[in-house]
Amino acid sequence: MTYQTIIVTREDSVAVVKFNRPKALNAINPDVIRELGSAVEEIGSDLSVGVLILTGEGEKAFVAGADISHMVHLSPLEARQFSANGQRLLFALEGLSIPVIACVNGFALGGGTEIAMACDFIYASENAKFGQPEINLGLIPGFGGTQRLSRLVGKAVAKELCLTGGMIDAAEAVRIGLVNKVFPADRLWEETMKTARIMAAKGRVSLEAVKHSIDRGFDLELASGCAIEADNFALCFPGPDAREGMRAFLEKRTPVFNKGEK
Ligand code: CAA
Repeated sequence: MTYQTIIVTREDSVAVVKFNRPKALNAINPDVIRELGSAVEEIGSDLSVGVLILTGEGEKAFVAGADISHMVHLSPLEARQFSANGQRLLFALEGLSIPVIACVNGFALGGGTEIAMACDFIYASENAKFGQPEINLGLIPGFGGTQRLSRLVGKAVAKELCLTGGMIDAAEAVRIGLVNKVFPADRLWEETMKTARIMAAKGRVSLEAVKHSIDRGFDLELASGCAIEADNFALCFPGPDAREGMRAFLEKRTPVFNKGEK
C-alpha cells in the first residue's frame, strides 16, 4: 500500500515507518492517524516482519506533535474524536506482538512523545528534545501523554513536564527513564538498526512471549504476572525455535531461528 504522510519500507525482516511531513516537522493530522493505523494493521498481520522501527523524515523532527493548524478549528466533540482516534491508534501500535523501537531523530513533542512512549523503547539522537507542551497552547495531552508518561517516569516528573510544558534534552530523558539510549545523530540510525536486527534474529515465539509477559504482567501483582510468564514460557516449548535454541547450545553452535512453522 502507498501512503502520502508516511513512508513504509522493509530491510529484511525489519519494517520501518517514517513520518513524512518534514515541512510541518512531521506533525500529526487525521491523515497521518489513518495511514499509520493502516500500516500498523498491515505490519501486524505480516508474520515475516520481526521488528518495527518508527522514525521521522528530515533532520529536525521525529514528530513535533499534533497538527496545530488542524486542531485550531476543532469543536469539543471533534476534539474528543481526534483524541479518541489518536489513542486508538496508539493502543494498536502498543498492542503489536513484535518489538517496536522509536528512533527519535529530533523534536518529539506532544503527540511525538506520546507516539514514542507507545513503542517498546526509545533510542534518541543527541539533538532530540522531548516534552508535553500542550499546556502552552491552553490544552492538555490528548494521545495518552498524561497516562503513559506517569507510568513510565512516575507521577511527579510527569506532572512537572505536563504542567510546565517544558522541553527536556535526550540526556535528561535518559536520566528520568524515558529513553533507553542516546547516540550522536549520525550514528542513531545504524545503532537502532543494529538492535532491531539482533531482536529480529531471535525466535518469533520468544519475542512475542517476552513482550506479552512484560506488558500483561506489569500492572498485576507479582504472582499473577509470574503466572502469565509461566504460561508464555510453556508456550515456547513445542516450537521449532526452542528446540533449535537448546539443541544449538548443547551442540556448541549458533542457533538459527525462524526456520520452522510459525
Ligand atoms: N503543528 C503544526 N505545524 C507545526 C507544528 C505542529 N505541532 N510544529 C511545527 N510546525 C510547523 C511550523 O508551523 C512551521 O511551519 P511554517 O514553516 O509553514 O511556518 C514549521 O513546522 C517549522 O517549525 P518552526 O518554524 O516553528 O521551527 P522552529 O525550529 O523554530 O521550532 C519547534 C521548532 C520548537 C518544534 C516548534 O515548531 C514548536 O514549538 N512546535 C509546536 C510543538 C507543540 O506544541 N506540540 C504539541 C502539539 S499539541 C499535541 O500534540 C496534542 C496531543 O497530545 C494530541
